[in-house]
Amino acid sequence: MGIYSKPVVFAIVSALVILTGTVVTVFIPMFLPSTQPVSAFVKPYTAIEQEGRDIYMREGCHNCHTQTVRPLRTEVLRYGEYSKAEEFAWDRPFLWGSRRTGPDLNRIGGKYPDSWHYRHMQSPQSMFTLSNMPPYAWLASNRLDTSDSFRKTEILGYGYTEEQVQQQLAEYKSKVTSAGYDSKETRDQVTPDALKGELTEMDAIIAYMQKLGRDVKAMEAKQ
Ligand code: HEC
Repeated sequence: MGIYSKPVVFAIVSALVILTGTVVTVFIPMFLPSTQPVSAFVKPYTAIEQEGRDIYMREGCHNCHTQTVRPLRTEVLRYGEYSKAEEFAWDRPFLWGSRRTGPDLNRIGGKYPDSWHYRHMQSPQSMFTLSNMPPYAWLASNRLDTSDSFRKTEILGYGYTEEQVQQQLAEYKSKVTSAGYDSKETRDQVTPDALKGELTEMDAIIAYMQKLGRDVKAMEAKQ
C-alpha cells in the first residue's frame, strides 16, 4: 500500500507538499515586480498634502468615505476609472475604508474647484440640505502645525530634503494667500481674519482632496 498505510509519513509528506505550494503561489509572487507595479505618474504626497492626509485620518473621514473604485460598471460610471494597485504605493496606511456613508473619494481630485471644498467643508448642509456629513468649519480656525512635516515625509520615505519640504509649504502658502488665488473669496469667507495669511488645517485637507486620483487622471490624459 506504500505511503497510504503509513499515516505519519503521509502527514509529513502532505505537509511538505502544501508548504511548497504555498511558498510558490503566495510568497514568491509577493516579491516579484509584477505584483508591485510602479507607475512613473504616481508621485508621493507633498508636505501639505501629507498634513491634510493626517487630518483626514484624525477626523475619521475614512469611516464614512472609501478611497477605492471597484472595477464594476456602476462604480466606473459614477466615480471614474477604477483604482489600480500602483496608486497606493505611497499610502501608509492605505485608506480604502469599508463603509460608504458618503461617496468614494478616490477620484475627487480636480472634480471641484477649491472654493467648492471650502464651502462644503464649512457646511455640507448649505449645499446639500440632507447631507449627514458633519460640518468642519473649525478646521479653518486651526493654524496648521508644520513642525513635524519634514519628519513625516522622511519616515514615509518620500525622499525630500528639509529645504524641499519648507519650499513646498511656502509655495502652497503663497498660493492660497495670494490676491490672485481663484478661490480667494470663499477662502476669505470661511477663514478667520487672524489666519487669512497663514496655512490652516482646512487648506491642508483641501490640498489632499485635490491630490486624490490626479496622478491617474494625468496618466490617462497621456495615453
Ligand atoms: C458621517 C459621515 C461622514 C463623515 C464623517 C465625513 N463625510 Fe464627507 N460626505 C458624507 C456624505 C453623506 C456626503 C454626500 C453629501 C455631501 O456632499 O455633503 C459626503 C460628501 C463629501 C465630499 C464630496 C464628494 C463628492 O464627490 O461630491 C467630500 C469631498 C467629502 N465628503 C470629504 C470629507 C472629509 C474630508 C471628511 C473628514 C474631514 C468627511 N468628508 C467626513 C459623509 C461624511
